[in-house]
Amino acid sequence: MHSDSRIYIAGHRGLVGSAIHRELLRQGYRNIITRTHEELDLLDKLAVDAFFSAEKPDFVFLAAAKVGGILANSTYPADFIRDNLILQTNVIEASRNAGVKRLLFLGSSCIYPRLCPQPIKEEYLLTGPLEPTNRPYAIAKIAGIEMCWSYNRQFGTRYLAVMPTNLYGPGDNFELANSHVLPALIRKTAEAKASGAKQVVIWGTGTPRREFLYSDDLGQACCCLMNLDDNRFGALLNEDTPPLINIGTGEDVTIRELAETIARELGFDGTLVFDTTKPDGTPQKLLDVSLMHSLGWHHTTGFEEGIRRTWLAFCDQLSNQTIPPK
Ligand SMILES: NC(=O)c1ccc[n+]([C@@H]2O[C@H](COP(=O)([O-])OP(=O)(O)OC[C@H]3O[C@@H](n4cnc5c(N)ncnc54)[C@H](OP(=O)(O)O)[C@@H]3O)[C@@H](O)[C@H]2O)c1
Repeated sequence: MHSDSRIYIAGHRGLVGSAIHRELLRQGYRNIITRTHEELDLLDKLAVDAFFSAEKPDFVFLAAAKVGGILANSTYPADFIRDNLILQTNVIEASRNAGVKRLLFLGSSCIYPRLCPQPIKEEYLLTGPLEPTNRPYAIAKIAGIEMCWSYNRQFGTRYLAVMPTNLYGPGDNFELANSHVLPALIRKTAEAKASGAKQVVIWGTGTPRREFLYSDDLGQACCCLMNLDDNRFGALLNEDTPPLINIGTGEDVTIRELAETIARELGFDGTLVFDTTKPDGTPQKLLDVSLMHSLGWHHTTGFEEGIRRTWLAFCDQLSNQTIPPK
């Protein structure tokens, strides 16, 4: 990417898209194109086609998606598969017609089989059954990877799918009803501290291991990939394997360690209670990130630092009243 390249971020107000946006601004890119959901509904093919033919972006970060937790995925499975298939198809097809040079398609580690060996290598895609709770979403994402691969083969495009691990950071969803474990624990701990409560209750035994990547580190990783020289970018897009790359830290922590770190960073000195009547989920989920490391990228935000920054962002959201009270 050159400093004046035309760069479109689809979903620039989301957790991932906003991190990519911050990183592009930090690196001095001047021609960043964005549209809010209200300005451009990516489900509307005619509007997407008109936008691409008017704006003619050179590079596309496809970070818009219909995203949700277990409850939303199991309540609205049809919405999740339909909207994601339509949205990504509209953007990928319009990108081809507009001659986009490179496209990064954001997927998710839920594309991998539920019980695959750890750490999870890119080659484990489609080697076993998926987690049933978000299978419609995962299948839409797998279709997106397959589309990138097929378009590359048939049309000579250069589209790459990136699979981040669990993310956290500013702009995260802190609503307890549908948030991920890390922002939910930040909120619960902050509220326990503010109210003087003596304990925080955590679902499950605390033993499952999870990997967490700070969103700004993902923003850097995505820009690093988009900026690879032609040879190294081309090497990620060969005919024999899907154009797919994991992004994570390569390190995991137990849920207990996560809760203890949050308690320490927020200064909560009460007790952490593990409700073992609640499910644990899969015992470990860790991505193999050796391919990404071989390209020279490593995450830079320490876990404590990332949690501190996310907590501050949560406090900001609260003071701006952009999140509802409990
Ligand atoms: N968060 C994670 O832990 C994580 C981990 C791995 C991978 N990912 C992947 O990263 C991608 C983005 O996730 P995220 O966490 O950033 O989600 P997010 O915070 O919900 O952001 C998604 C963005 O897409 C926009 N959008 C959705 N439908 C749209 C439509 N029809 N037209 C225009 N814009 C639309 C949303 O706008 P509105 O909010 O206005 O609807 C929002 O800005 C997803 O593919 C996800 O699988 C996320």
